[in-house]
Amino acid sequence: IPVASFDCVVFGATGDLTTRKLLPALYYRYKDGQIPPTSRIIGASRSEITGDQFRERARDALKRFVPGHDLTEEALSAFVDHLGYVAVDGAGEDGWEALAEKLAERPDQVRPYYLATSPDLYGAICRNLARHGLIGEKSRVVLEKPIGKDLKSARAINDAVGEVFPEEQIFRIDHYLGKETVQNLLALRFANTIFERLWTADVIDHVQITVGETVGVEGRAGYYDTSGALRDMVQNHLLQLLCLTAMESPLNLDANSVRDEKLKVLRALKPITVNDVQHVTVRGQYAAGAVEGKPVEGYLTDLGPGSQSRTETFVALKLEVQSWRWAGVPFYLRTGKRLPQKMSEIVVQFRASPFSIFPEESFGREPNRLVIRLQPQEGMKLEVMTKDPGPGGMRLRPTGLDISFEETFKQRYPDAYERLLMDVVRGNPTLFMRRDEVEVAWAWADSLLKAWADRPEAPRPYAAGSWGPTAAIALIERDGRTWHEDLR
Ligand code: BG6
Repeated sequence: IPVASFDCVVFGATGDLTTRKLLPALYYRYKDGQIPPTSRIIGASRSEITGDQFRERARDALKRFVPGHDLTEEALSAFVDHLGYVAVDGAGEDGWEALAEKLAERPDQVRPYYLATSPDLYGAICRNLARHGLIGEKSRVVLEKPIGKDLKSARAINDAVGEVFPEEQIFRIDHYLGKETVQNLLALRFANTIFERLWTADVIDHVQITVGETVGVEGRAGYYDTSGALRDMVQNHLLQLLCLTAMESPLNLDANSVRDEKLKVLRALKPITVNDVQHVTVRGQYAAGAVEGKPVEGYLTDLGPGSQSRTETFVALKLEVQSWRWAGVPFYLRTGKRLPQKMSEIVVQFRASPFSIFPEESFGREPNRLVIRLQPQEGMKLEVMTKDPGPGGMRLRPTGLDISFEETFKQRYPDAYERLLMDVVRGNPTLFMRRDEVEVAWAWADSLLKAWADRPEAPRPYAAGSWGPTAAIALIERDGRTWHEDLR
């Protein structure tokens, strides 16, 4: 679908997110004909570089982060022709006049301001945009996570941005919502009759959500050590996955209909108190080990020599959604750095059949399971019981009805940012977070952070390359269940 001509100003233009994600995403949209010829991507940051130097950096970034078979010199040159640069001090005075002049050249463009900077600057940048008369009906502001580190700081950011932008023009990114398979959850649940009717506590035993990463803290130790896995991953990405899994059917796909339903799930999350924290949560921190066959250092070594830290790089939780639909159905969540695989999935475990007509030794009561793979190898598998072939009697075993989206659709799976950036230009906020969602998610996370603070314990060490501390296995096995292990 073509989009309107736009001037997208990217603050933090020399930073990691722009280099790794935004420029490659925009390049692919260019290749697919979605960047109209009159559109511009204007880098803004404090670095005193020229437009040519910025274009040169962008070329290098694309050569690093776009696979060679998708890069042609012709496309690359034509794409970087859309790029411009203005040195601007987001929180200070310098550069704003120059930016205003550049934008005045094309006053009718849709104008996304993408804030890929530290959140401390969001308020100041927005105030500067307003002061220089740069906010109009066609402007939108895109806020990267983290939006704060607790409810208080999130409110302060939302207040500051909200002073100059109306809520409809604020796009809070959670890039998990732009992942194809995450959107597919909506299709799966609400475009098929066979699942939604079974999507209740009567039929579902429990749900598991795993987001595993093999990377450590890479170059982000400074940020990560003040954040930890709960703030970095659970408060946003994992809770959003939980919302899409647990929410009621929205009235339609309008942004507010979808977000209203997600909000209800967040509101129904049972707060974790100091009394349950030991039973329903596990914090871990990776120690030295090996990931994908390569030895890696522990978290403290990654932080730097002599470092001390109690920040968690792994968290496992057992959550309750207090509603009719989900009463008594636990949601087990886990995420961590330096796990054995980069693998994200949602597992819906159905209850065992109430009675078996099959001989006991044939395991006729193995429950069905639906596995939704978010990455890599996006797809879905429904495990159903089938008869073992052969004359050996009625022996059963689970078999997967397995769909790989890539094989089925035979096309490249776009990165989440491609979809989300175009949604910003189109002005469609369905896959972005509304202020109340972010704040309710923080209120819940704050209750857990407080419970942890009231019962301070060092995170449990786990060897890099393992699935977290053994306590995380005990968390689910205590309930007579196990984490799903895919033997693909
Ligand atoms: C980011 C976190 O939001 O998501 C990172 O800050 C994490 O710590 C990343 O690595 C994971 O995203 P993806 O798309 O690679 O699963």
